[in-house]
Amino acid sequence: MLPKCVFAFLFIFCLVNFNISDGRGINGGMDCAVCTVVLGLSIQVAQIHNDTIVGASTKLCSFLPSAAASSCRKIVKTLEPALLSDELYELITPDVVCYGIGLCYKTPGENYCHLFPKPKMMGFHHAVTKVKKNLGGNLRWNLCSLPGIRDICADINRSLERIEPAVDVDKDWFSTVQSARGSFWRGKDCDDADTVAYPGRQAVLGDAFSDSNCNGIHGIDPATASAWETQLCSGSVGKGLIYMGDSVGAHFHFPERWMDPLQVAQIDPWDIPTSLLQNVTQWILNEGDWPQLGFATGYLNNTQSSLIQGPVDSIYLRMLAMNRCNHRDFQNLSRNGAATNTVLAYMQSVARNATKDRPALFIYGLYGNDVCNNYKDTISNMTTPEELRKNVMAVLEFMDTVLPEGSHALIVGLVDASFIYPAMRDLVHPLGRLHNDITYGDLYEWFSCMQIGPCNGWMTANETLRAITSKASKRLSAELKKITATQTFNNFKLHYLDNPLGEVMDEWVKQGHKVAELIDPIDSLHPSQMAQALITEVAWRNIKKQFPYILGEENPNNDKIIELFGDQGGH
Ligand SMILES: *[C@@H]1O[C@H](CO)[C@@H](O)[C@H](O)[C@H]1NC(C)=O
Ligand SMILES: *[C@@H]1O[C@H](CO)[C@@H](O)[C@H](O)[C@H]1NC(C)=O
Ligand SMILES: *[C@@H]1O[C@H](CO)[C@@H](O)[C@H](O)[C@H]1NC(C)=O
Ligand SMILES: *[C@@H]1O[C@H](CO)[C@@H](O)[C@H](O)[C@H]1NC(C)=O
Ligand SMILES: *[C@@H]1O[C@H](CO)[C@@H](O)[C@H](O)[C@H]1NC(C)=O
Ligand SMILES: *[C@@H]1O[C@H](CO)[C@@H](O)[C@H](O)[C@H]1NC(C)=O
Ligand SMILES: *[C@@H]1O[C@H](CO)[C@@H](O)[C@H](O)[C@H]1NC(C)=O
Ligand SMILES: *[C@@H]1O[C@H](CO)[C@@H](O)[C@H](O)[C@H]1NC(C)=O
Repeated sequence: MLPKCVFAFLFIFCLVNFNISDGRGINGGMDCAVCTVVLGLSIQVAQIHNDTIVGASTKLCSFLPSAAASSCRKIVKTLEPALLSDELYELITPDVVCYGIGLCYKTPGENYCHLFPKPKMMGFHHAVTKVKKNLGGNLRWNLCSLPGIRDICADINRSLERIEPAVDVDKDWFSTVQSARGSFWRGKDCDDADTVAYPGRQAVLGDAFSDSNCNGIHGIDPATASAWETQLCSGSVGKGLIYMGDSVGAHFHFPERWMDPLQVAQIDPWDIPTSLLQNVTQWILNEGDWPQLGFATGYLNNTQSSLIQGPVDSIYLRMLAMNRCNHRDFQNLSRNGAATNTVLAYMQSVARNATKDRPALFIYGLYGNDVCNNYKDTISNMTTPEELRKNVMAVLEFMDTVLPEGSHALIVGLVDASFIYPAMRDLVHPLGRLHNDITYGDLYEWFSCMQIGPCNGWMTANETLRAITSKASKRLSAELKKITATQTFNNFKLHYLDNPLGEVMDEWVKQGHKVAELIDPIDSLHPSQMAQALITEVAWRNIKKQFPYILGEENPNNDKIIELFGDQGGH
């Protein structure tokens, strides 16, 4: 079951990536969730093609790497008696089958969870029992322990541990490869064999002989015999951008066409386009993220129109437009699921040297994981203001040792995501599009029941809980504001910016649009590509209004730089 098996692993990744790198969940957790989604897609694709589920699934297994394919076939084989039985036909829902085959099971003291509608003919428990009996008893699986699949899980696990470029020959923390924390994430290295050349460096000898900061400006003006970089850049205060954030900062996005049965059914399992496999691989290597299109460090024009749609704008692009000397000087240290305590583990991945490099604008933007979690007892698992202060101070104190003098730090407040539930509740999720049978409300209930959702506090029908979560978010933002008002640092000035997303939503609705258009349709949490671009607009406007001195004056030599150096070596 190619698209489906492969997509299953993407889905593991997508969920694991949010907030639950500890692989939480009950009733089988992620294995159960993957089973339900994959089987749900398989069954619907089989229906669209008038195929049997076993036929469709077996076909698709052959597109996995061979060891994984045989595990996949084994699972289908195990399922066969249940899937082929006429008697059971009416009972078969993806949830029932996944409990029947043991990838989902009831954790003591918990209830059954279901994403798809319950079976109509009999109770859920009764249906599960019947399927189990047909399969010959109780089975227990662990997806990541199956041959072939184990390797895929291990790869995913490894990529989660790194936040530095995987390919970096000269170990200067910048890469010429795009994915795997490469140049999609931080400015492209112009010489990956030379530790002295990397984005963000102060020009060495005016870059008369080589381009030490990778901004594409180097050499000597024959007319004056002075270095171009000195002539064109030294008169204006340039700055790089360093963004530290979570999956919003990382711009997490699961392409809708990979989870909509109507679109998945259009893929011929015998003739998978190589470009699809490439796209999937790239997606995995980027942790499901699209930093190259994100609101802070995005720089590419959006050409993947079948996977992600919308305009690209970013703080980096605007800083570049103000001063072409800033070319390639950006770093995105966002990570899905990051919260103020988890960034402490990898803040050392910042590539900046206080004496050798250019000043930077450091943006610390953790949108919500300090109040979002998937624990049943979600409230007591939220970060307290005291913990938050400790975590934030640790990062700021560290940044004071790496940011060059003249830098600025901007702390962004938390988002209040209470707009999600009312806007999404009644809409149909792409996974339920064939039969109109899964709403976002159903999805949230399943998330909470399984304890795997990205945000119990806001993705819930419980209005009181949503209000408590909003209040907690405001309290943490107030604490951030207090930190910026009272703390000073040697190498940078500290500022507080309200989270731009609230203003983005207000303006969007005032223009007569729907909130849902700005929310990613698969996870229904992350801002869409359109929203990312609007975040840039609002954030930039507010930075300009409140702290114009951070951005400085426009470089009067910009046109000259373009005339002499073209696209400055691109990105
Ligand atoms: C599937 O069967 C239904 C009715 O049995 C028919 O209307 C439909 O065209 C068939 N679809 C395909 C893809 O063969
Ligand atoms: C991921 O790796 C860590 C440390 O290497 C290990 O403790 C953990 O069990 C692994 N998780 C999975 C899902 O393999
Ligand atoms: C940072 O990179 C991530 C991952 O690609 C991306 O989703 C996010 O939008 C980027 N953040 C910014 C602020 O550009
Ligand atoms: C893969 O991505 C490219 C853009 O990079 C896009 O043109 C192509 O349609 C995608 N392929 C598939 C099968 O979606
Ligand atoms: C993006 O598109 C604009 C307008 O079409 C063009 O000027 C610019 O060079 C493109 N940027 C990249 C990185 O391709
Ligand atoms: C920064 O650069 C200076 C000068 O090359 C060097 O002595 C120092 O060790 C560097 N600092 C760090 C933290 O690498
Ligand atoms: C989070 O919730 C779980 C149970 O839901 C509880 O066991 C744990 O102690 C909580 N953690 C914190 C830090 O409160
Ligand atoms: C809603 O959430 C609040 C706070 O967690 C809780 O006290 C209350 O019992 C919940 N209400 C329902 C109907 O579950």
